[in-house]
Amino acid sequence: MSNSPSPLWGGSGRGSLRVGVLGATGIAGQQVLAALERHPWFTVAAVGASQNSAGKLLGHALRDPSGGSRWFADGRLDPSLLSLPCLTDAQLLAQPVDLVFSAVSKEVAQVWEPQFAERVPVISTASAFRYEPDVPILIPGINDAHAEALHDQRRRRGWRGFIAPIPNCTTTGLVVSLKPLHDAFGVRTVMMTSLQAVSGAGRQGGVLALDVIDNVIPFIPGEEEKVERETKKILGPWDEPASFAVSCTCTRVNVKDGHLETVFVGTERPADAAAATAAMEAFGIDGLKGLPSAPERLLRVEHDPFRPQPRRDRDAGDGMTVTVGRIRDEPALKGVKYVVLSHNTKLGAGKGAVLLAEWLTREGYIVSPA
Ligand SMILES: NC(=O)c1ccc[n+]([C@@H]2O[C@H](COP(=O)([O-])OP(=O)(O)OC[C@H]3O[C@@H](n4cnc5c(N)ncnc54)[C@H](OP(=O)(O)O)[C@@H]3O)[C@@H](O)[C@H]2O)c1
Repeated sequence: MSNSPSPLWGGSGRGSLRVGVLGATGIAGQQVLAALERHPWFTVAAVGASQNSAGKLLGHALRDPSGGSRWFADGRLDPSLLSLPCLTDAQLLAQPVDLVFSAVSKEVAQVWEPQFAERVPVISTASAFRYEPDVPILIPGINDAHAEALHDQRRRRGWRGFIAPIPNCTTTGLVVSLKPLHDAFGVRTVMMTSLQAVSGAGRQGGVLALDVIDNVIPFIPGEEEKVERETKKILGPWDEPASFAVSCTCTRVNVKDGHLETVFVGTERPADAAAATAAMEAFGIDGLKGLPSAPERLLRVEHDPFRPQPRRDRDAGDGMTVTVGRIRDEPALKGVKYVVLSHNTKLGAGKGAVLLAEWLTREGYIVSPA
């Protein structure tokens, strides 16, 4: 897609883009802010959150009533961002921004994302629009051709902007690991069991420590359906889901960050562990080179049979590299099986959303009006 289509929105393409962050106080929103600190292309101009936070400075909104910090991402947030006022949705909508990151629940996104998209591009971590027929679910380097659909979306809806969601955080690691296998051997069947981190539930819905410590919760409402549907939408050609079957069991485990998944893949053409390892190791992301948030590798293979582990491997590539290990022959499905780990709040949420915005900017889908 280096022959960029004409810009969907905006003017000459010069200058830093002014960014609004909706849901800035949440776990995904905080990771958006962390990824945007000192960003060379984007400047955080305004932040929004719920009525509980509106009217407070972001630094105050990031404290709970006892005064304890609700800052979840690494390091400390720049004081210039902490002093931004938290706006209501309507106030944020009135701000002169060029681009909005939406990191709110599906219900809030359903109402507000279209209102923002009428004016500017919206990069979303929420599921509200992922399954609409004119909305691509994008991972740069995986299904770049689907971005073309943003032109139709804008035209059909009469918007100046568009809604571009990233996938569910459990889908991301699975899809990145399947992509080289699908290209090389054709995926026929996928069976996956996830062991998902607590941060994936966010703060608002959340998982009580009391429920998850010393425990595994064997059900995450709606998650299995999302992963099954999104995997097929992303890896199929645009407007036609991939024809392979995906079957998942999603569980919540006592881990802070990093979703681990055991994956069993049946393939159309013969694949064994050595060939699958070679395909994954050869998987490059030349199209992401030069993007500020791009890792050196989107996918890496660990040969130590005790890896990947959430604590040791989730921060590979600053949380933007997916790690696969334990690649073995799979006799039951006739293919391969492996374990995959990805960072749910970085690649799977905040920094992944920023990477998508960078890619869409470089490809001409988002353009500064300056
Ligand atoms: N956590 C992850 O790993 C992850 C990964 C991928 C995608 N996601 C998706 O990202 C979205 C946010 O998840 P999260 O984990 O960050 O949730 P969260 O920690 O519960 O944060 C929710 C955010 O939404 C804000 N909010 C609530 N009601 C609002 C309203 N009416 N208007 C504007 N803002 C409102 C909250 O503000 P207050 O602080 O003022 O309440 C908070 O900033 C969800 O759609 C989730 O599915 C999450």
